[in-house]
Amino acid sequence: MERTFVMVKPDGVQRGLVGEIIARFERRGYKLVGLKMFTMPREVAETHYAEHRGKPFFEGLVRYITSGPVVAMVWEGKNVIAAAREMMGATDPQKALPGTIRGTYGIDVGRNVVHGSDSPASAAREIDIFFKADELLNYERPLDRWIY
Ligand code: TYD
Ligand code: MG
Repeated sequence: MERTFVMVKPDGVQRGLVGEIIARFERRGYKLVGLKMFTMPREVAETHYAEHRGKPFFEGLVRYITSGPVVAMVWEGKNVIAAAREMMGATDPQKALPGTIRGTYGIDVGRNVVHGSDSPASAAREIDIFFKADELLNYERPLDRWIY
């Protein structure tokens, strides 16, 4: 089964959207296999967003993502990497479809509520940044036979 990294960003935590975002993944049928809350150190933010280093929005992005607690998660399920991106909607909430997380809760690209890995390579890299192997759980859900 695929795994992806999803994070409620500081604005999402401040606005009380943690439960809402978790609920969307739970209700769809994905399985939560890792969860933690922390305030991201600057070095970790720069590593996580390394692909954007040098871009005009990089400094603001790092300041935003380190500005308060985040909720980091690993979700597991069939095709969850692409599905999570679809559930989140476009990077810029103005372009995100209504009903997506960003299209429902966001207005500004600099406050877009949630992060999700954009590919299998990114998912592996990001899970490794934020979780140790023993922080990811393998457990049975009897309900899975009603989902798959
Ligand atoms: P990106 O990886 O392109 O988007 P996504 O989060 O959908 O994978 O960009 C990372 C974050 O950087 C994005 O969530 C919000 C911020 N950002 C800006 O503030 N301005 C921009 O023009 C872009 C492209 C991103
Ligand atoms: Mg990205």
